[in-house]
Amino acid sequence: MITISQATLEDLEGIIAIEQHVFNTDSYPPFVVRQLFDISGHYFLVAKDQNQILGYAIGGLNTELMQGWLLSLGVHDKARGQGLGKQLTEKIIAVLKNANAKEVALTVYPDNQSALNIYKNLGFKGDVVLDNYFLDHEDRIVMTLELNWYFLMVVQIKRGAGVEIKYNYCLRYYHYLRPIRIESLKNGTHCYYRKRNLRCYSSAAYKKAF
Ligand SMILES: CC(C)(COP(=O)(O)OP(=O)(O)OC[C@H]1O[C@@H](n2cnc3c(N)ncnc32)[C@H](O)[C@@H]1OP(=O)(O)O)[C@@H](O)C(=O)NCCC(=O)NCCS
Repeated sequence: MITISQATLEDLEGIIAIEQHVFNTDSYPPFVVRQLFDISGHYFLVAKDQNQILGYAIGGLNTELMQGWLLSLGVHDKARGQGLGKQLTEKIIAVLKNANAKEVALTVYPDNQSALNIYKNLGFKGDVVLDNYFLDHEDRIVMTLELNWYFLMVVQIKRGAGVEIKYNYCLRYYHYLRPIRIESLKNGTHCYYRKRNLRCYSSAAYKKAF
């Protein structure tokens, strides 16, 4: 049975072997894979049958932007066409979503039909071909998948009247650590917060608003 799990240091050699097998001269040098593992090994997934590595996915997270990346994906020739590439992609999306990524980005060659199938089927968007994206004089497409709808709380702040919870509603939310919008109105101020951790954001926002 094939299982997908978080990779360990012992899996790194097998991951690098598949990377080199599937990407040839475009593969990451082993030291880069090792350093990526040191920085964010918890975003490395490995697909195994018994102890044999058949595929991997390497993710990463830009914590400033809360933007996840699928940095590399590979399935050994002999295991292709069975949905493994799709499962690895789905799993890395779930891992990044769990880490609060607001979107997942990736790059793909415009003629990589099987990879494009996976990404489009999973909802990734983007069809603009960027030339020389990796400074290698080759074309790439950057695709992104938006994640996470957040419940937002709108808080009406009236001068001298404390904080009054006005109403809740659901909005697409792009910022992470700040109130997403502050509106000054005649009768006070409306602050728009992410609902989770509201208490901690509301006091900071209160100061910011006044
Ligand atoms: C891309 C890759 C990971 C896909 O792995 P896989 O396990 O075969 O993927 P899946 O079995 O999940 O199939 C993916 C889709 O591609 C389709 N597909 C498979 N081979 C194909 C081919 N030769 N031409 C067009 N589509 C193909 C499948 O039908 C499937 O689409 P569907 O879900 O609409 O049916 C694998 O081919 C690979 O390692 N390629 C080299 C490395 C690479 O390109 N990585 C991605 C970099 S962006």
